[in-house]
Amino acid sequence: MNDNKKKKIALVTGSNKGLGFETCRQLAQLGLKVLLGARDVTKGKAAADQLNIENDLRDNNAVLSYQLDVSDQDSISNVVKEVDQCFGRLDMLVNNAAILYDTWQKAVNADLEVVNDALRTNLFGPWRLSQAFIPIMKTNRYGRIVNVSSLGGSLQYTNYGRTPAYSISKAALNMLTRKLAAELVNTGILVNSVDPGWVATDMGGHGGRPVQDGAKGIVWAATLPDDGPSGGFFVMVNLYHGSDRLIHVIFRHVEHSTAIVHGVVYYFVV
Ligand SMILES: NC(=O)c1ccc[n+]([C@@H]2O[C@H](COP(=O)([O-])OP(=O)(O)OC[C@H]3O[C@@H](n4cnc5c(N)ncnc54)[C@H](OP(=O)(O)O)[C@@H]3O)[C@@H](O)[C@H]2O)c1
Repeated sequence: MNDNKKKKIALVTGSNKGLGFETCRQLAQLGLKVLLGARDVTKGKAAADQLNIENDLRDNNAVLSYQLDVSDQDSISNVVKEVDQCFGRLDMLVNNAAILYDTWQKAVNADLEVVNDALRTNLFGPWRLSQAFIPIMKTNRYGRIVNVSSLGGSLQYTNYGRTPAYSISKAALNMLTRKLAAELVNTGILVNSVDPGWVATDMGGHGGRPVQDGAKGIVWAATLPDDGPSGGFFVMVNLYHGSDRLIHVIFRHVEHSTAIVHGVVYYFVV
């Protein structure tokens, strides 16, 4: 059988660095064909080359880079066309790319152009990509869509100000997860949001958990079994041992929520 037909194929957006890059690495290590999306061609190619060198013993072309700017419909359309022509399917879509952790803003006087920029990338990017790939996933009766979210997008746990563009884009992303999941029941497609926790990337800054740990939750949701959950917003609780207060808040919540155990423990939040 052709190699491309055997392997599951995953597309990860915003993967030239940070959590996206590490997610590509972990998916490639699981033996998947990984399509590494990056808006900058050179950075994307360098990232894919690095992962292929690491992966060399198994498959020299496990990771392929694609120019993909999630805020640009033409860029999305090009990738969808190429993937469809080349593979005829996409098994996993990881909507990871995001911008604008706007700690300098408050909702009361936020620059709405900035909010609009955040929505274009963080919400409409995943939405456009989902719309584009769902028909292909439906044909194959298999799909996993992971929207990389943030506890900042949780209605229940947001009782602080600031980061309005980012948090509101992630709250909307979580609702997109719910809507898609509800519409895709019994299609073989599972859609979930995952908060990777505070992770030491360019966006997260110093002090966060190692990127390897943050990516685990994303990989978990991308590789769920057929009877796995859909429509959930999952947080890996032990990501937070840097913050006693947050642990306390989450554990209090967990008493009233569903816990799902799959090697690591994830908790369902709203
Ligand atoms: N780090 C944390 O503590 C944390 C916590 C909660 C949630 N998250 C979420 O985790 C995800 C990954 O974050 P990260 O920490 O890895 O951030 P990061 O290091 O800043 O990486 C973000 C990635 O997204 C890409 N990107 C931005 N806009 C794009 C666009 N329009 N099209 C395509 N790619 C684009 C960036 O590309 P360039 O290099 O070209 O800019 C980069 O590859 C995000 O969804 C973020 O909200 C992170």
